[in-house]
Amino acid sequence: MNPLRINILFIADIIGKPGLAIIKNSLQPIREKYRIDFCIANGENGSAGKGLTEDIASEYFKYGIDLVTSGNHIFEKYEYFKFLNSNHRVLRPLNYPLGTCGKGSTIVSFSPEIKIGVINIQGQTFMPPIDCPFRAVSEELTKMRKITPIIIVDFHAEATAEKMAMAWHLNGKVSALIGTHTHIQTADETIMQNGMAYITDVGMTGPYDSVIGMKKEVAIKRFIQKMPERYQPADSDLKFAGVAVAINTQSGKAENITRLLISINKEGKIV
Ligand SMILES: [Fe+2]
Ligand SMILES: [Fe+2]
Repeated sequence: MNPLRINILFIADIIGKPGLAIIKNSLQPIREKYRIDFCIANGENGSAGKGLTEDIASEYFKYGIDLVTSGNHIFEKYEYFKFLNSNHRVLRPLNYPLGTCGKGSTIVSFSPEIKIGVINIQGQTFMPPIDCPFRAVSEELTKMRKITPIIIVDFHAEATAEKMAMAWHLNGKVSALIGTHTHIQTADETIMQNGMAYITDVGMTGPYDSVIGMKKEVAIKRFIQKMPERYQPADSDLKFAGVAVAINTQSGKAENITRLLISINKEGKIV
């Protein structure tokens, strides 16, 4: 590794078993191809499309993910979510109310010289009520920037305008702001003028023959009939989605962002 540059891979929301198969069979070659040093993934949809269990998180770590962020679905596996109190490699959004289990930020010691700060926040627009993400991230950054200039923020939010406003709010203060939650990848990846990598939404790692990862027949029926019916993850047209960001280890500024949307066969391997 070049000590002046760290390559960070951020993997878009991993959907259920199809997503896990992609991670199991394709993450290592992707890590090698893009010379990835550290890998973050959003895991809020890991368990059957909603929520995450400790066992699935362990599999992510086994296959090469270093840290997991999440979002509004993280607490949906009621039996399991308390593992967030003990597992320091899985984050929930920082701006949940005081007392919510788990934590919303961490600093990872990558090497004696390099520390990577990661913050997970959640939006307020078209989302369940939550504390202000702008204030929460600013408070956290005041502390984190004293320790490291390398800081990655996962902003789990629905509205494009809220994500863009956050981009201008954080530009020059963090290395990368990566949007998650919509499961639709946007083609607006950029390095902003103050050296922050940005993408409005990084997309979804899972089945694309679907409505944002779920079986399309169920989704259509729910929209037409307004009756509750359990969503199930779809299983075909698999894709790996993410961004690879190169960051200067001294300044914390991003030097490059590469958007990834890679077709995967049904065994989970790169086509
Ligand atoms: Fe998601
Ligand atoms: Fe979400």
